[in-house]
Amino acid sequence: MPFVAVHNPFKCLQCNWCSEIVDCPGADQEFCIGCGACVLACPNKAIKLVPTPREKKVLIEVDGNPGWVSEKISLKEALIELGYKISNFPEEKGVYSPCGVGGCWSCTLEVNGETKRACVTPVEEGMSIKTSLSKSEPPKRLVLDFMGHPVGGVGTPYQLRYQNGLFVEAVCLAAGCNFRCPTCFNWSYTYQGKGRPLTPGEAAINLTAVRKELNLNRMLISGGECTLNRAWLVQFIQKLKELNPDPLACFHIQTNGSLLTPSYIDELVEAGLTDIGIDLKGLEIDTFMWITGLRDKELARKYKDNAWEAVKYLVNKYLDKVFIGIGIPYNKDLISFKEVVQIGKLLFEINPFLQIGVLNYKPDYRSKIIPATYDEMLAVYRALKETGLKTVLAWAEEGEIIGP
Ligand code: FES
Repeated sequence: MPFVAVHNPFKCLQCNWCSEIVDCPGADQEFCIGCGACVLACPNKAIKLVPTPREKKVLIEVDGNPGWVSEKISLKEALIELGYKISNFPEEKGVYSPCGVGGCWSCTLEVNGETKRACVTPVEEGMSIKTSLSKSEPPKRLVLDFMGHPVGGVGTPYQLRYQNGLFVEAVCLAAGCNFRCPTCFNWSYTYQGKGRPLTPGEAAINLTAVRKELNLNRMLISGGECTLNRAWLVQFIQKLKELNPDPLACFHIQTNGSLLTPSYIDELVEAGLTDIGIDLKGLEIDTFMWITGLRDKELARKYKDNAWEAVKYLVNKYLDKVFIGIGIPYNKDLISFKEVVQIGKLLFEINPFLQIGVLNYKPDYRSKIIPATYDEMLAVYRALKETGLKTVLAWAEEGEIIGP
């Protein structure tokens, strides 16, 4: 059943995020295709999708086969109507569409000879669609805010963090994420779908320019979730390495780890990856779903288990090549103290020398939680140290770190 986005005027605060950051194909109901991007992006949960009948059908062609689909829907929905599978995991069959807001450009199709995103592009009468691109062109991705960063990420060795207010890394942020964390602190990037997407080469030139201008050695891509578009990320690291062949250059990604399969990790390391920060969002599936905002239990379990397996794989195969930092969430409204300690014990078994960063989850985006106090973070820090982990950091207040 097609949908249309409906605004609740009592919840809407007129912030215009839905029209300014989402690549909305129809700003009013007349043209709305019910893609749901604005529903995901609205920080006030003021928009919902309601089913709407679409009597009229349009004729399109997909991979050479004609088919009738509802008018005023996205290409993704058109494919679903024609029986195509949509996947949220890159090594599964189907059209891969992990972010749904137009940011990651993973769902690209060839439409009348042009590359278009399935999730936010309206279907039109007579379209000729190919689910595999026939032209050889570099992948694209929306990447924002190339800049210096004074803190670094979970995968930044703690000795390098906070250099008296100086920048420690050149950073850029990839749009789109497969998680829906209510506490997302980068949500204006995460849900962004507008802007000119960049090829890996263009993005590498931009980040290298920041490195040179600020005289830095470390280059970080964060997000959103930078791993969504695999071909793009692998080529981006390759291009960065080509442009920065010196031994001091570090190529760092910050990720939730949910999509990092062994073959993906192998490709990234082969491309030049030197540092990685993985944010584990929980151990218990209920915690993981609460923190990530995911509703599909089977998919959430797959993401969670994959992130843990990615940590093990990296440690077993690449500990001598890649610096690995692990992020653990903490806020008593999101995860229990006991579960955090259990995570610590498991990480100790994987490797006691991993750098562990406990992140003080705060109110942001859709969450109104109260941040943990200094004493709460200190207690978590001490409990994790007692598990035997050697390098633990806990973020107490803005910029204040307990440990290691
Ligand atoms: S799934 Fe369409 S752009 Fe990310």
